[in-house]
Amino acid sequence: MLRRWILAVLFVSFGSLAHADAQPMGDPARGELLYSTHCIACHSDKIHWRDKKLVTDWKSLQSEIRRWQEVSGLRWSNEDIADVARYLNALYYRYPAPA
Ligand code: HEC
Repeated sequence: MLRRWILAVLFVSFGSLAHADAQPMGDPARGELLYSTHCIACHSDKIHWRDKKLVTDWKSLQSEIRRWQEVSGLRWSNEDIADVARYLNALYYRYPAPA
């Protein structure tokens, strides 16, 4: 758990340095913040690693995130959804994503 936090903090600080002037790429650091605030309660990282995946590409990743933020009543914008998608994609899925 502690290790994960350290990694998370490193990721956020590196992310904000690396992406400070790269807005068109989306903001995975912001995605991480949104995800760890609203989504992680029910998930372990196992959910994104399992064999029986619902997410099979960049598009289905976005639609699962859209679905889950609706379930949680969060009313995320497309930008919020894209930021979280970038974060999860960088961390787990690694599908080709649009720039
Ligand atoms: C109430 C508990 C709960 C909350 C809150 C929740 N999830 Fe989930 N999530 C699940 C469960 C359970 C599954 C597996 C669903 C299945 O197999 O049908 C899942 C699956 C997913 C998947 C698909 C994983 C895969 O590769 O198959 C994504 C992406 C996802 N959630 C994103 C989110 C996001 C983003 C949020 C925050 C907005 C969120 N979830 C909040 C319980 C939750």
